[in-house]
Amino acid sequence: MSPEIKIFSTPIAVAKAFAQMIQDKSESVDRLNIALSGGSTPKLLFDILAADYKSSIDWKKLHFYWGDERCVPPNNEESNYLMTRKHLFEHIELPQANVHRILGEDNATEEAENYGNILMDQLPIVNDLPQFDLIMLGLGEDGHTASIFPHQMDLLTSDKICAVANHPTSGQKRVTLTGPVINNAKGVSFLVTGSGKKEKVDSILKGKDNHEQYPAAHISPKSGGLTWWMDEAAFELI
Ligand code: 6PG
Repeated sequence: MSPEIKIFSTPIAVAKAFAQMIQDKSESVDRLNIALSGGSTPKLLFDILAADYKSSIDWKKLHFYWGDERCVPPNNEESNYLMTRKHLFEHIELPQANVHRILGEDNATEEAENYGNILMDQLPIVNDLPQFDLIMLGLGEDGHTASIFPHQMDLLTSDKICAVANHPTSGQKRVTLTGPVINNAKGVSFLVTGSGKKEKVDSILKGKDNHEQYPAAHISPKSGGLTWWMDEAAFELI
C-alpha cells in the first residue's frame, strides 16, 4: 500500500499541520499512545504544540513513549527525553505519569527488556505485539529511522519488542523499538524536513534500486497507516 504524502512549503508549516493532526487524533479517543522520535527535527513541532496547543489539547489523554533513546542520563544534552522536556513538557499541563521515558542511564540490555515489558503491560496487544496509536519517526541522512541503522538491519525483523542498537560512527548505545513493533502501529508518521534528506526520500519513496539498504524503506505498517510529512526541500527530487 502506498504511503500518504503530505508536502508543505516550510518546516514551520509541516510542524503546524502535524500538531493539528495530533490534536485531531486526541479528540476522538480517551487515551492516545504516542512514540516520539528524537534528534532535532521534532523541536519545532514541540515548540508549536507548547505555544499554540497548550490549552486546546486535553494533555492528560496523551501518553508519551519514545521510538528510541540514547543511552545517556536524562540530563544529558544527547537525551531525546531532555529535548522533549525542554521543548514541550515544561510548557504544558501533562501528568508526570503520562511520560514513559526509556531509562537511558540504565544498563542498555536490561532497559531494552524492561521497556519492552512496560509496552506489553501498558499498550493494547495486537498481533501479539504492543500497538501504538501513533509512532513518529525521523529519517537519518543514512536512511536510518528510530535507532535502526543500515549496519543493523536485523533489528527490522527482531523477535524483541525493544533492542540495543549502536550508532554507526560514534558507537553510542541506543535503545530502540524494533521493526515489527513499529510496523504494528495503527499509524506511523515520518516527519522529515530539509534538503539534507532529499536523496534518501527520493530513493525510498520511488523504490529506487538501492532503497532496500535503508531501514526507513522497510517501514510499512500492517494497518496501512503510513504518512510522510515533509517540507518542499526534503521532497525536492520527487
Ligand atoms: C534519534 C532519532 C533519529 C532521528 C534521525 C533524524 O534518536 O536521533 O530518533 O532516528 O529521528 O536521526 O534526526 P534529525 O531530526 O536530527 O535530522
